[in-house]
Amino acid sequence: MTARVALVTGGTGGIGTAICRHLAQLGHKVATNYRDEAKAKAWQDAQRKEGFEFALARGDVADPAAAEAMVREVEKQLGPIEILVNNAGITRDTTFHKMNALQWQEVIATNLGSCFNVTRPVIDGMRERKWGRIVQISSINGQKGQYGQANYAAAKAGMHGFTISLAQENAKFGITVNTVSPGYVGTDMVMAVPEDVRAKIVAQIPIGRLGEPDEIAYAVGFFANEQARWITGANLAINGGQYMGW
Ligand SMILES: NC(=O)c1ccc[n+]([C@@H]2O[C@H](COP(=O)([O-])OP(=O)(O)OC[C@H]3O[C@@H](n4cnc5c(N)ncnc54)[C@H](OP(=O)(O)O)[C@@H]3O)[C@@H](O)[C@H]2O)c1
Repeated sequence: MTARVALVTGGTGGIGTAICRHLAQLGHKVATNYRDEAKAKAWQDAQRKEGFEFALARGDVADPAAAEAMVREVEKQLGPIEILVNNAGITRDTTFHKMNALQWQEVIATNLGSCFNVTRPVIDGMRERKWGRIVQISSINGQKGQYGQANYAAAKAGMHGFTISLAQENAKFGITVNTVSPGYVGTDMVMAVPEDVRAKIVAQIPIGRLGEPDEIAYAVGFFANEQARWITGANLAINGGQYMGW
């Protein structure tokens, strides 16, 4: 298998860490971004102790200039980016009639704006080299909507609109663009939800439990594979059966 250079945004988070580790286990050189240097270095050290070496580049994905500088820094450290995983994301949950403009804007900028901000400085190189893998980490709630998440569901649905447009524009350049839509995975993002609400969520999952980060990472590795070259514009739901729309 060809070793590639991968950038996973939000790689220090729950799902992001699993994606970084899985891509490294597949033989790729992996970088992620950070905003808080001390936190990122502690993460890097912890990963190193377990045998994983990851590159770090400063960058807020919600800021176009910072995202471009982050991409250039990764290129400097590892070389041209061949696999891009747009994974960084946040929630600011509240019902729409209580939502303020900041809660809307932060979620749209971080989850959806980041797809423009990070992919734009990467795409020209992929087109020139005629090879690329781009994966958006969307959400089940972008597919089905969710009470209290008009901002997040709009951003996550938008991510797949972005995927299917880029997939068409770049298909002739050896670049595939796909979306992974996880259901509820037991990371900090979901553990921040009150326990009684979480119990109600689990009750809606036919497999009967929250997902594990590795189960999402596996799908990213699949899309990044050389042989996945005829799969583009797909949206893969990984949700324990909670939402089976198609
Ligand atoms: N957990 C779930 O059940 C679930 C389900 C469906 C979809 N997802 C999606 O999966 C992705 C990862 O989620 P997770 O559960 O792993 O979340 P997480 O543990 O909270 O990690 C989020 C990561 O994104 C980074 N990040 C956030 N805002 C950023 C910004 N403006 N610039 C740069 N980095 C930023 C965070 O960095 P900092 O440490 O600097 O904050 C962190 O590394 C998200 O897109 C999320 O929406 C999660």
